[in-house]
Amino acid sequence: MNFKLTEEQELIKKVASGFAKDILAKTAAEEDKTKRFPIENIKELAKMGLMGVNIPFEYGGSEAGVVAYSLAATELAKVSASVAVTMMVTNMAAEIINYFGTEEQKKEHITKIMDGTYVTGAFGLSEPEYGSDAGSLKTTATLDGDYYVINGNKAWITNGGYAGIFIVFARTNKDIKGAKGLSAILVKPGTEGFTIGKEENKMGLKSSSTVSLSFDNVRVHKSNLLGKEGDGFKIAMTALDGGRIGVASQGLGLGLAALEDATAYVKERKQFGRKIAEFQAIQWMLADSATELEAARMLIMQAAFLKESGAKRFSKEAAMAKYFATETANRVAGKAIQMLGGYGYTEDFNLERYYRDVRVTTIYEGTSQIQQLVIGREVLK
Ligand code: CAA
Repeated sequence: MNFKLTEEQELIKKVASGFAKDILAKTAAEEDKTKRFPIENIKELAKMGLMGVNIPFEYGGSEAGVVAYSLAATELAKVSASVAVTMMVTNMAAEIINYFGTEEQKKEHITKIMDGTYVTGAFGLSEPEYGSDAGSLKTTATLDGDYYVINGNKAWITNGGYAGIFIVFARTNKDIKGAKGLSAILVKPGTEGFTIGKEENKMGLKSSSTVSLSFDNVRVHKSNLLGKEGDGFKIAMTALDGGRIGVASQGLGLGLAALEDATAYVKERKQFGRKIAEFQAIQWMLADSATELEAARMLIMQAAFLKESGAKRFSKEAAMAKYFATETANRVAGKAIQMLGGYGYTEDFNLERYYRDVRVTTIYEGTSQIQQLVIGREVLK
């Protein structure tokens, strides 16, 4: 077993880390306060090839693989988890068009994500009434001649305010209530009847975009169907298996950043005449955090490596990575604040932002409970 990164993986990691430290670090805290979407930095990610880390060269991607993608997401998340999620969901949209799209769809959309013509891509699965139970969603797409007519509402759509393309999941067969009646359709912003809602006021990831969508008799040519009719749920689940590796990587980045800040603090802070790093109570918190983050990294690398090797299904490994890494990152961020005491509770330190940002990682792209369900079903097979 070889744990050494390839030269290409090291390079992508270095590029993402350099950009995060040199550019994102300057404005991340301020953007969190003002809720500004850092569009110039997001466009820069496309120029650096980070919007298509696992996309073939022929469509403008970096073709560096899933491990490299995970490393990049972690490095960005160490500094700005908002930028990381914007990058992750854009990569997910590009990848899923690459995996299921026709040659025409790939040339039309992936290249525009890669060159930054589309600032981001977005994924429209969740609805106000259907989150975990994605297979029951009720947005409809009814064929009328050569056009699908889409009606319904979507919720919590990451990147929605800046997306050049949306992958929208809708029920094309009303007679089938569950997962098999769903299809995936590519929809562009600006299409008549398609309204992008206002930005949500979130606890964290405040400089990322999260909106609702509404579709009122939106007509989309049938050539925009992704895959076949009825494939929608499998497309969504395939996308989420990959996406969960991304969220796990984001969680890892946030956890590592929290641990780094706490470590620096305890080496300076004195109480009872000594640096608090000398107290075992602190060392145990550091030890638990470092060990659990390393274990999370291993689970993430395993899932990324499996996907990269072309495994048909890696749902269990992706779910384990997301479940463990994001729960760990939440624990680590909590302990880090404990070590900083009152200072950790103020906006003067980045930790407070990490603590808010990390909270959603056990919720989006499938809650921890959904990951447990996926893992549990696999164990029982
Ligand atoms: N890959 C391929 N196919 C899959 C699959 C996968 N990972 N998971 C399920 N399927 C297939 C099944 O094999 C089955 O097909 P067959 O009947 O042909 O065998 C079909 O899909 C239905 O599967 P299930 O019966 O398992 O479906 P279910 O209704 O029980 O749901 C679930 C399973 C795991 C709970 C799923 O609904 C799920 O993951 N829910 C969570 C949804 C989610 O993660 N939402 C996040 C929103 S997106 C987001 O957050 C993005 C963002 O903006 C940041």
